[in-house]
Amino acid sequence: MRRAARILFELIDRWSERVFTPELNPLVQLGALVWYCYWIVIVSGIYLYIFFDTGITRAYASVEYLTNVQWYAGGVMRSLHRYASDAMIPVVTLHMAREFVMDRYRGARWFAWGTGVVLLWFLYASGITGYWVVWDRLAQYVAVATTEWFDALGIFGKPIARNFLNEAAVSGRFFTLMSFIHIAAPLLLLFGMWIHIQRHVQPRVNPPVKLAAGILATLTALSLIHPATSQGPANLDIVPASIGLDWFYLIILPLADRYSGELAWAVALGFSLLIFLLPWLPALKQTPVAQVDLENCNGCGRCANDCPYNAITLQNRTDGKPYKLQSSVNPGLCLSCGICVGACHAASPFRREPQFIAGIELPDTPAAGLRDSIVLASSGLHGDIRILLFNCAAGPDLSSLDDPELAVIALPCIGMLPPSMVDFAIINNHADGVFLTGCRDNDCKYRHGIRWMQERIQRRREPFLREIVPRERIDQYWAGASDLAGLTLRLSAFKRRLRAMPIDNPKTDHA
Ligand code: HEM
Ligand code: SF4
Ligand code: SF4
Repeated sequence: MRRAARILFELIDRWSERVFTPELNPLVQLGALVWYCYWIVIVSGIYLYIFFDTGITRAYASVEYLTNVQWYAGGVMRSLHRYASDAMIPVVTLHMAREFVMDRYRGARWFAWGTGVVLLWFLYASGITGYWVVWDRLAQYVAVATTEWFDALGIFGKPIARNFLNEAAVSGRFFTLMSFIHIAAPLLLLFGMWIHIQRHVQPRVNPPVKLAAGILATLTALSLIHPATSQGPANLDIVPASIGLDWFYLIILPLADRYSGELAWAVALGFSLLIFLLPWLPALKQTPVAQVDLENCNGCGRCANDCPYNAITLQNRTDGKPYKLQSSVNPGLCLSCGICVGACHAASPFRREPQFIAGIELPDTPAAGLRDSIVLASSGLHGDIRILLFNCAAGPDLSSLDDPELAVIALPCIGMLPPSMVDFAIINNHADGVFLTGCRDNDCKYRHGIRWMQERIQRRREPFLREIVPRERIDQYWAGASDLAGLTLRLSAFKRRLRAMPIDNPKTDHA
């Protein structure tokens, strides 16, 4: 089921890449887009607040002034405020669905997932109170339905809905309180958004400039073509015959209004609890986390720099070795991706010991075992051309590839492959070429695995791939779960190029 959904997402991604280009594909930066919409909401909100009157008798008129008299600035700001807020709901829903389908929500990621669920509540609190402060007929409906909904909790001494029984009962102080909540809730949302990404190294919170400009231009055009307007002044003595609802934010209110507040709470809390618990339904089968071997760690810090989840810290040396620092893994943060192993100089297959140990290891996939796999896989290759293909666990299913010229070695993440293993495979003549594949580019399951791998090969990130390794003998194609056809084509082209190359490899003695 999940695999089918993932393939569907990837197909839509490919279509989106064709429209937007791979770098600007909005679907691979949904979290950043929510952040961006949030900033549009805040900037436009600050502008509106300058002209907004928080008193219940003057609020409507101040918003009307902004909308109709100052339409060129205040009106556009109001519309931007509304449309960017609205956009946050589908974008956050897609973000949530994507993390779920791509299986990026279990294990140590429960934290991002769980804080995400809390963010939904802050987001809704911000949106619902926003409709309230305009004090038009929609606001009247929102005020009555929300207070009745909260009264169903039975925690207030006097029902708060009494504040909105009729015009005489309406409380200005209560209205001002709502205006205050409409400012406090987005601030809490911002704090929650910051917490949400605390475990991420270099979180993607800003979309590329071109995409950001495109979104702003689209929202501004929409604001001019279809400005946000009010629905007539509130009058609590009259029950509005019909009102236009914003289904993005107000979806729960008709349920509370038409059926019962209790049912609306059961739905809202039940749904939140269900999604909150998803990381444990069932929990991820925990693979052993990364372990440091102090004998082989010199405290260089590359693993800590490369871990995408802040799971590694450098601490003062505890074993008396002549180095200042040592690496230390926080098991509660580690996702067992192995990217740290790819960063460790001591994971080199050129080491003399048959069963060498790297400074940091994934117990299930030791670096020495990886070297053995290269030697073993290479000895089983029979064609004119020998290719070692490294695939990551979230990459394409290669079981249908039956090719005597190709051997597949699987890794948890392609970022786990130390460049020295590629060096070893080519320079020690275990293969004529090395091919790398895995998740789709820009959407690595472990966030930075593909990028760090590419930068190590391009000698922009340590540990560098030695210059002597012929780059034309290395190729890559980021197929994801869905693009086996593209991968096969790319492999065929790689083979043709390899066949045209001189047979001798620059084999050197590393012993
Ligand atoms: C205001 C709402 C939200 C914002 C602004 C937001 C933003 C972000 C950002 C910027 C990232 C980091 C992306 C990266 O660099 O890899 C992220 C990750 C994540 N978000 Fe959200 N998010 C929001 C709501 C949610 C919700 C509602 C959920 C699910 C319930 C969720 C689940 C996740 C998960 C599981 C990750 C971690 C993915 C990984 O570790 O690779 N988020 N979010
Ligand atoms: S990369 Fe290796 S040697 Fe460097 S700190 Fe990490 S474990 Fe130690
Ligand atoms: S396995 Fe991945 S998450 Fe764990 S410490 Fe290494 S790089 Fe970090």
